Amino acid sequence: MTERRPLETAEAQSPECTRAPIGMLAELTYRCPLQCPYCSNPLEMDRVNTELSTTEWQDVMRQAGELGVLQLHLSGGEPTVRHDLEEILEAAVKADLYTNLITSGVTLTRERLERMVKIGLDHVQLSIHDVDPANAEHISAYKGGAEKKHAVAGWVKELGLPLTINVVVHRQNIENLDAIIAYAVEVGAGRLEVAHTQYYAWALKNRAALIPTREQFYRSVEITNAAKERLKGILVFDVVAHDHYAVRPKPCMRGWGRSLVDVTPSGKVLPCHACEMIPGLEIDTVREKSLADIWFNGQAFQKFRGTEWMKEPCRSCERREIDWGGCRCQALAVTGDAMNTDPACALSPWHKEFAAIAEKESREPPPPYIYRRMGSGGGTSDRRE
Ligand code: SF4
Ligand code: FES
Repeated sequence: MTERRPLETAEAQSPECTRAPIGMLAELTYRCPLQCPYCSNPLEMDRVNTELSTTEWQDVMRQAGELGVLQLHLSGGEPTVRHDLEEILEAAVKADLYTNLITSGVTLTRERLERMVKIGLDHVQLSIHDVDPANAEHISAYKGGAEKKHAVAGWVKELGLPLTINVVVHRQNIENLDAIIAYAVEVGAGRLEVAHTQYYAWALKNRAALIPTREQFYRSVEITNAAKERLKGILVFDVVAHDHYAVRPKPCMRGWGRSLVDVTPSGKVLPCHACEMIPGLEIDTVREKSLADIWFNGQAFQKFRGTEWMKEPCRSCERREIDWGGCRCQALAVTGDAMNTDPACALSPWHKEFAAIAEKESREPPPPYIYRRMGSGGGTSDRRE
C-alpha cells in the first residue's frame, strides 16, 4: 500500500485550493447490464481485472473521510454488479460519508438493499429511461427494465430511504416529460433530476439520435417550470440544461477541481469523469499517491483550477467565477482545445456553429443508436438483444 503524506502537508502545497471536495464520485466498475447510448463512461473502458480490490476501495473511503469529503456517490457502470458493494459501503459509513447509491436497479434485490440500509446507506438515486416500457427497453437495450425499476422504487420507500429519480432527457423521450414527472410523484421520489443529455463520450457518438429540437427543449423548460410551482413541497427538481440551446454555460463539475472528485474503477483520480480524453493531463491514481495529495497538488486538478489558465473572452468576463468557463471536455470536443471557452457560451466564437449543429441534426430522422458495449466500438439498434 502507498505511504501517504499527512493531510496538512498535502494541503500546504496547494495555493489554488485549500478546501476539501464536497462530493466524491466512486465509479466502482464500468460493468453494466444496460447499454445506454448516452453513457458517460469513456469509450475505452477499464478491464475488470484492473478494478480496485475491496481493500483498496475501503482505503479510498477512509482517505475520503480524512480528507473531509461529505457526500459519496457510489456509481458505475452499475455499482451493484460488485459483490463487495456492502463491504465498500461499510467502510464509507465508518468514514462518516453521506452515502448515495446511484443505480439502474436492474441487478438489485430487496434483500441486498435491506442489507445496505442496515449498514447505513443514506439515499438511493434510481435512473429511469422513460415511462413507456417499450421505449425504455429500446433506449437501454435491456428487457423488463421498467418493471424492475418500479419494484426497486417501491422497496426504497418501504425501507424508509429518500429517493431521487434521474432521467436523461433527449429527443426520444422528451415528449413524455410530463408523464415522467407524474411518475416520480407516484413512486414517492422527493427529488427528480431532469438531465438534458451532455454530448461527450457515448452521447457524442449518438448526438444525432438524441438531440431534441429547440422547440422541444423550450417546451420541456416550460413543463419543468410549471411542475416546480405545482409540486412545491412535494418534489424538488435538479435540472441540467441543454447546452446547444444555452446562452451561457453551466459551471461544469461545479468548477474544475473545486467541489467534486471522481475515482475510476482502476483508481484514477479525476477532476471530471470524462476528462481522460484531454491531452496533456497527468492522471494520478490512488495506487501511487494519496487522495489528498492528488486533490490538492495533482497536475490534472491544477490544470484548470481557478481562472489563471483562462483565455479570452473568459479571462476578463464578469462570470468567470460563476461558470468557470463552462465545460473543458466540450470545449475540446467542439473547438479542439480544452482551454477555449465552452461553445455553449454565446461569447465563444464557436457558439453559432455549435447551435447550428443542433438545429440541423434535430430536424433530420434519428439514426439507430450506437449502444455502449464493453470492449467494442458499440453495436447499433438494428442488432438489439
Ligand atoms: Fe462564462 Fe467564459 Fe462565457 Fe464569460 S465568456 S460567460 S466566463 S464561458
Ligand atoms: Fe468534463 Fe465538463 S464534462 S469538464
